[in-house]
Amino acid sequence: MHTRRIMKFGGSSLADGDCWRKAKKIIKDRLDLNPVIVVSAMGAVNGGPKVTDMLQEAGALLLEGRDASGLVREVIDRHRAVAAGLEIESSSLEADFQALKKAAEALPKKKFSSREEALDSIMGFGEIFSARLMQAFLQKDGLRCLAALPGESGFITDDRFQDADVLEESLENIASYVIASREIPIFPGFVGITRDGRPTTLGRGGSDYTAAVLGAALKRQVEIWTDVDGIYRINPGYLSHHFIDAGHPQTIPHLSYDEAFQMASFGSRVLHQKALLAVQQAVRKGKHIHLFIKNTFNPDHPGTVISSQKQHQGIPRGITCLPGTQLYTIYARSPQESARFAQRLKELPGLAVALSSNTWGRISFVFDRYHPVLSQLESEFNSHLSRDQVLVKIVGDGIGENPETLSRINGALHSAESPEEFGMTLVHKSPQLLTDNTFEFLVKKRGLAKILQTLYKDLFMRDVVTIGMLGLGTVGGGVIQYSREMYSPEKSGFRLDYPTALVRDMEKKRPVPFDGTLTARVEDILENPLVDVVLEVMGGIEPARTYILKALEAGKHVVTANKALLSHRGREIFEKAHRHRRNVGFEASVCGEIPIVDDFLKFPGLGDIDGLEGIVNGTSNYVLTRFMEGMPIGEALRIAQEKGFAEADPYMDVSGIDAAQKLCILASILFNQPVDFEMIPRQGIDGLTPADADAFRRWGFTVKPIVAARVKQDRLVLYSCPALLPQGHPLASVREENNALSLYLKGRVEPITKIGKGAGAIPTARSIVRDILDVARKARAYMVEVPGYFRAKGGMEMSRVEEIESAWYVRLTVKDNPGVFGKIASILGDFDLSILRVHQEINRDADEAHVLLELKDSPRKRLDMALDLITRFPFVKSCLPCMILQC
Ligand code: NAP
Ligand code: HSE
Repeated sequence: MHTRRIMKFGGSSLADGDCWRKAKKIIKDRLDLNPVIVVSAMGAVNGGPKVTDMLQEAGALLLEGRDASGLVREVIDRHRAVAAGLEIESSSLEADFQALKKAAEALPKKKFSSREEALDSIMGFGEIFSARLMQAFLQKDGLRCLAALPGESGFITDDRFQDADVLEESLENIASYVIASREIPIFPGFVGITRDGRPTTLGRGGSDYTAAVLGAALKRQVEIWTDVDGIYRINPGYLSHHFIDAGHPQTIPHLSYDEAFQMASFGSRVLHQKALLAVQQAVRKGKHIHLFIKNTFNPDHPGTVISSQKQHQGIPRGITCLPGTQLYTIYARSPQESARFAQRLKELPGLAVALSSNTWGRISFVFDRYHPVLSQLESEFNSHLSRDQVLVKIVGDGIGENPETLSRINGALHSAESPEEFGMTLVHKSPQLLTDNTFEFLVKKRGLAKILQTLYKDLFMRDVVTIGMLGLGTVGGGVIQYSREMYSPEKSGFRLDYPTALVRDMEKKRPVPFDGTLTARVEDILENPLVDVVLEVMGGIEPARTYILKALEAGKHVVTANKALLSHRGREIFEKAHRHRRNVGFEASVCGEIPIVDDFLKFPGLGDIDGLEGIVNGTSNYVLTRFMEGMPIGEALRIAQEKGFAEADPYMDVSGIDAAQKLCILASILFNQPVDFEMIPRQGIDGLTPADADAFRRWGFTVKPIVAARVKQDRLVLYSCPALLPQGHPLASVREENNALSLYLKGRVEPITKIGKGAGAIPTARSIVRDILDVARKARAYMVEVPGYFRAKGGMEMSRVEEIESAWYVRLTVKDNPGVFGKIASILGDFDLSILRVHQEINRDADEAHVLLELKDSPRKRLDMALDLITRFPFVKSCLPCMILQC
């Protein structure tokens, strides 16, 4: 068996009987790797003390001349209990128990070179007990193994007690010992022995170091078995429960030694940094050792691999923090003052400088912790001490050589800064440091959580977009269904997560299954730091407006399909988005699946637009399609509602209000000026009757719900109304719930027309998901694009509806009396309105007649005046004028 694999089991992996059984199973499953075992002392159980802590405390008591026999007994009893639980004869440990008792008795009397040496005389017993216990435990299963105590294995160290280093020259002896042994050697971690036989310890957490030394001596891979799945990208304690519930932080699959060293030396406690120094030293001699960090309680997890290999240069791997650092800034007024300060700096009592920066007249130092001497210095010099700072490191080889990484880090810091929320900036622009493999900066403690969570998301969750939903009705359900059944994360590069949806009625049955959580508390979405995008699909102006404004203030991007809100309060929302540097996607608010908002936002000119004409309400178009086939309007509307096309209040559709809202949004963007919704004249489709449908068919027209914006003599004419279209008109063939938008531009006769589904769950969802991705991409690039019209001043004047000139259809429903038509014709003549066609339909049952007229081009003002007089005749029951569009 040539392979050798060093397997080190930490204290948490050996804390109680259950842990021991798991560790044994791992060893037995890997016998083919020819293991060399390293064991730590038993760790803490349920918050109780670790064995090494107990021994340290016992040593301290003994040094003070106090009694520690109770503690020593506790340590021994704990091992006896675990041995009994594992059905091992504790007699195999008796000699070691006695040795501990003897060492403890001797400690206060014996002459040691230092307090550290005295402590080391008992502190390593925990590991020795573990090694003996493991030997007995494995032997019980018939495995040949042997505890390899330092004196026997040649684990010789220097005499820096409590922090000893293994002597370089002892590596060969250790290797020979292992190679010669016929049993599985079980090394107690953390302990060594000096040349003259005095016990040493290697520093807290030093069992990793023992394992690394064995790896270096044998040139073999090392597995560190612990209680976590590997080295985390960030200490989980810095993330809110939202992250933890969603399975974060992730572990880092691969780290180079340098990266691991930065993580280990600075907050991440999974690995002892001396272990890394040992393997790094081995690399210099051509021995490339991999360290695998594995979880005893989840052995199938791949864990973290640490090797000398540097991969993917410039990619951030993890974030570590050093809390409690102190920022001391001196504003030196003279070179003498600087020199005096430099002298004082040399005398500081054991404070380490973690970072420093020097700009003209201003020198900053970051000290690793507070000491009262810093306050003294503050009063002595022209300086300022800023306490409780946190030094943050982003770790990744070659981080400074990757401009994309640097811009991401800066972007994330910038985006997390929220002076309005914190009343200050959080990140000290200086001092800041870029090393070969770290980007380091100082953060105010108050804003640490926000900064770290933003960084974590931006650096390690770049392919996930978390969406908080306001509403889960027709459109919200469509978004979920689309995302589950039709969306491709491979194509888009983003995984979409919908953890929470706000609804009114928690008990209501949802047509589409939702994996997330329903809530009635908007805070569950707005206060969740994981949520990148708030998707508003609840409709109406309030509370949607308030929630969107709060979402923007909380740093969320927004996607909305709410044209009612944008046509009334769009300026306020875009203003807020601009102030908080957030994006608002609102493609789905107009024309469903047709990407018209994006098109209009990107449209470069103003002087080349003659106008637009379109069908922007799917429900009305659907209703009018059926109406022209002979179905009553009420019945057609009911079907449109069933199909999910209509607004919660369908009056918005049939009254032309919804279409006018969309026109308001489109015209504001296209003409780059805020358009007042109230200024848009609108007429509904609800006044049309079967007699009208007959007349339209007879005269070769169809009827459509039209919106238009035209530029006439530098004035803007807008309207929303049903209009008659000749068959050749570009919008005449747009049927069902389809929408269409024609843009009339200078220099071309025919318009550019786009057609697509304007309503319904899936078409709208498609548009919303595009918006989510668009917003996410912009967010990743720290790009903010808010439609500029919200702050545009002036612009074109709005023309009055009376100025519209067109051909007209008029239906007058009158009592079937003689002379009626003559009176009508006479008034039309008085207003210079010429009749092109006329038809009369008699309904004898109702004793009424429909007078149907087609009038030549004339201004709306004259038509209105004529109809005003005509409708005063007592024989007129109702009147309906409709615009006729030309091809
Ligand atoms: P919907 O079916 O009525 O759904 C609205 C959702 O919002 C429901 O889940 C409702 O909760 C929730 N909601 C409403 N008010 C709430 C409040 N105050 N607090 C908490 N939850 C509330 O509407 P929709 O058809 O999906 O339309 C949503 C938006 O999309 C509207 O702005 C609409 O104009 C726009 N839009 C619709 C279409 C379409 O084809 N339908 C197309 C484009 C744009 P409950 O389920 O518990 O009642
Ligand atoms: N009710 C709207 C329509 C939904 O029918 O057009 C799409 O905005």
